[in-house]
Amino acid sequence: MNELNIAVLGLGRLGCAHARNLSQSVKGANLKMVADPLEGKAESIAKELNVPKWSENPLDAIQDEAIDAIVIVTPTNTHGEMIIKAAEHGKHVFVEKPLTDTLEEADKVIKVIEEKQIICQVGFMRRFDPAYFDAKQRILAGEIGKPIYFKGITRDQGCPPASFIKHSGGAFLDISIHDYDIARYLMDDEIVSVAGHGRVLNYPYIAEYGDVDQAISYVEFKSGAVGDIEASRNSPYGHDIRTEIIGTEGSLFIGTLRNQDVTVMNDNGSTYEVIPDFQTRFGDAYRIELEEFIKTIRANEKPRVTALDSKINMQIALIATDSFNQQGEKLHVGGNKDEQVKL
Ligand SMILES: NC(=O)c1ccc[n+]([C@@H]2O[C@H](COP(=O)([O-])OP(=O)(O)OC[C@H]3O[C@@H](n4cnc5c(N)ncnc54)[C@H](O)[C@@H]3O)[C@@H](O)[C@H]2O)c1
Repeated sequence: MNELNIAVLGLGRLGCAHARNLSQSVKGANLKMVADPLEGKAESIAKELNVPKWSENPLDAIQDEAIDAIVIVTPTNTHGEMIIKAAEHGKHVFVEKPLTDTLEEADKVIKVIEEKQIICQVGFMRRFDPAYFDAKQRILAGEIGKPIYFKGITRDQGCPPASFIKHSGGAFLDISIHDYDIARYLMDDEIVSVAGHGRVLNYPYIAEYGDVDQAISYVEFKSGAVGDIEASRNSPYGHDIRTEIIGTEGSLFIGTLRNQDVTVMNDNGSTYEVIPDFQTRFGDAYRIELEEFIKTIRANEKPRVTALDSKINMQIALIATDSFNQQGEKLHVGGNKDEQVKL
């Protein structure tokens, strides 16, 4: 079977990792083009990865008839425009989270995806991570009974520069959105209310953008289950991702700080290596989600994370942001307490 010709748009922190996976390890993919407006960036990555075409204009990739699918890893505020343009040219799309930065744009995107009948998968890679996948199977098998509490910790090893923060949508949309998604997936439940709190503790420059470096969301689910979700830019020790689910008959912990299962003990005490960054923690998941994207296009199936699913995650994140701006008032997802979001 012929390989699918792919173009990657945006070659920053994550775009380079996706490009590397597509050129080296994702079966069925042929990385044909890379694009990034930063002078020289696309050319240097193309040369490093042996990619035949590059451009400083993302539209060149979208308009190229030889390209079957576009992988969008550009700043969040450009996702909507990129998806719509790609869909209008009949290209399938893999887009990084969040789908867009406003619900109006998410609605426009969903409409175009449906009209043009393209596949659009969104980058909620935790669903493809082997540990989260195993946890899901164990919950389904009833090993902890009925899930009643979700605890999510997402701590980044530092704060990205202002150039990223100003287009990121803030901590709830940029960071906690991963936990809202995996909470809905693992609990098999919908979040119906959220209260968001946060503060700038360590990176004063982000206050200018209304952002915080430490945030917490208290969430309530339709079933009556509840949870708390922490987002932090304050873990200089590494990338700290942990999830706990309390069930009626047991609990389940996902994640560890350890990068390798080696502990060194000497005069200085004992030490082990901590997972340094998201590329290391989710290396497998980033590859597996792209492999699944290729298979989904081939089989013309519904992706495991749809644009509609991603809009629900955005809704929760945007309402958490509103709640934070209203001094942490509990707000109902969906507008009023009787209205539930639907999958
Ligand atoms: N799933 C995850 O775990 C995860 C992790 C990090 C980032 N992300 C998401 O990926 C996206 C990119 O994040 P990043 O950290 O790689 O950002 P980054 O700032 O490191 O890189 C963005 C790149 O996009 C380029 N760019 C800007 N406008 C462009 C355009 N119109 N077309 C093509 N390229 C353009 C920039 O020059 C830059 O090289 C964001 O939406 C972010 O939320 C997801």
